[in-house]
Amino acid sequence: MGFGMKFKRTHNCGALRASNTGEEVALAGWVDSNRDHGGLIFIDLRDREGITQLVFDPALSADAHAKASALRGEFVIAAKGQVVPRSRETINPKIGTGEIEVRVSELQVLNPSRTPPFQVGENLGISEDLRLRYRYLDIRSPRMQSNLRFRHAVTKAARDFLDAKGLLEVETPYLLKSTPEGARDYIVPSRVYPGQCFALPQSPQMLKQILMIAGCDSYYQIARCFRDEDLRADRQPEFTQIDLEMSFVDLDDILNTVEGLMAAIFQAAGIQKPELLPLPRISYSEALDRFGTDKPDQRFALELKNISDLAVLAEFKVFSAAVSSGGMVKGLAVPGGASFSRMEIDALIADSQKFGAKGMAWFKVTSQGLESNLTKYFTPELLARIQERLAGKPGDLLIFIADRPGLVNDVLARLRIQLAGKLDLIPKNSWHLSWVVDFPLFKRNEEQRRWDSEHHPFTAPHPEDIPGLDTDPGRVRSLSYDLVLNGVEIASGSIRIHQPGLQSRIFKLIGISEEEARLKFGFLIEALALGAPPHGGIAIGLDRLVMLLRGENTIRDVMAFPKTQRAQDLLTGAPGPIGPEQLKELNLKIAESRP
Ligand code: AMO
Repeated sequence: MGFGMKFKRTHNCGALRASNTGEEVALAGWVDSNRDHGGLIFIDLRDREGITQLVFDPALSADAHAKASALRGEFVIAAKGQVVPRSRETINPKIGTGEIEVRVSELQVLNPSRTPPFQVGENLGISEDLRLRYRYLDIRSPRMQSNLRFRHAVTKAARDFLDAKGLLEVETPYLLKSTPEGARDYIVPSRVYPGQCFALPQSPQMLKQILMIAGCDSYYQIARCFRDEDLRADRQPEFTQIDLEMSFVDLDDILNTVEGLMAAIFQAAGIQKPELLPLPRISYSEALDRFGTDKPDQRFALELKNISDLAVLAEFKVFSAAVSSGGMVKGLAVPGGASFSRMEIDALIADSQKFGAKGMAWFKVTSQGLESNLTKYFTPELLARIQERLAGKPGDLLIFIADRPGLVNDVLARLRIQLAGKLDLIPKNSWHLSWVVDFPLFKRNEEQRRWDSEHHPFTAPHPEDIPGLDTDPGRVRSLSYDLVLNGVEIASGSIRIHQPGLQSRIFKLIGISEEEARLKFGFLIEALALGAPPHGGIAIGLDRLVMLLRGENTIRDVMAFPKTQRAQDLLTGAPGPIGPEQLKELNLKIAESRP
């Protein structure tokens, strides 16, 4: 018998059906609600599996009825009684147990509860901070329970699939050296080595490569990663990856494995997607060209069109000057947008400026051609060619941004998403998964005047482009790939460099000196020289994937104990100060905070 419990439960609160009528049962859980109908008391009893209605009739047990009248929300109770059918007018078709109730003959109050700061399951109007401070009350809600259960199902499907494929689950340590994923590290000071620190891993990247060199052949891990970076709805300082790595493989092997994994996960999520495989692949440059981003949401069209070649012919300086100074002009046709009011167009212009553009040019498409206060700067022939390029139909609005290519793409990509929402172009319950491939190996860091890795420095260059490493690094493609679901990057990976010489060359190209490379990655370079097989891998952002499949807007709602947007844990109150003793032990001094 459980500690202090007079009897054990026979069923959970979601189990009983009309077919159980007449059975003596015992349930345990939390008081969700109580109603005293003068004589009869009704209690909704809640646990992880559902809600069952309990009825207390003084004629059956005066003792149970008396105790029930003192019950309040979140009291923990156990109740014994008989399953009886509900009268027809009180049947609740919304819940599984809605056809029955339990007439209670014995009630035990296992623990009373103080009045909770918010009603469990009531989300509206409750601040997220309060939910996070009392996370255990929040997690009692059906929504959070089902999110956690859903996450469990996804994780289990992933484990089962990867296990069946022969991948070995290996844990890698949290106390580690700095890993280069581009964010700031969380640092753990060492007591044993004064002044020295561990860094929590931003990913298991280097260790999974070492596992391949160690002959593990293929590995996976449901891996926790730590990154001190600006937080967003889909970013947490601690998050989880389904991380995998395989030896003697090429890019297609990894992509095929992940496609199988996604099919298994979608199936576990109850989403039928027979047309899932094989997933479409789009190159980075095509994605940028057509959608302005390397994570295009392809559930809707609204594609961008480049009109730079036409823009130079216009007398409109904003267009021609942008192109002649190395920029470009791109636009898109907004279906039905010609009916936007002046205010709606001004709001779009304001948005484009908020996204970084200097302005936004627009034309309404009528049966007579393009109309706008800008038409005077364009010949009728040029206007016709622009309309044709954008496939503008009467009733559409054509919008254009002229600027540096990066900015043009970024602004239009954001406007595209915004317009799709406004025009209701995104089909409900639709899933678009696709690969983005052929990323550039490097991205230009203008501030530091050097090249940075686009993915990470262990990514293999495309074999055809290796000759260009020294002559034209910006044009070298990599063997990396991202998986995009509904416009969100949910996975990222690459074939790795397995030759120490090439790895050293890449470090040099991204401005890491030999000395620094030796200090930070010496162990990996050494391992590469001691029998490294060709290998590659990928990491899937589990939180993001679950968030999307679940239709939630933030990954916090699919994690049991997330941090706030300000990287705090409100439940335990972390981070918090540490005492003088601990500081001394760790050889740390807190710098005087300056005003
Ligand atoms: P990357 O840094 O792209 O690659 O991460 C892989 C995936 O992890 C998810 N992700 C995050 N999710 C929540 N919060 C965050 N702060 C966060 N950052 C990333 C994303 C992303 O696609 N070592 C490489 C993988 C590899 O090459 O195998 C890596 O970590 O969904």
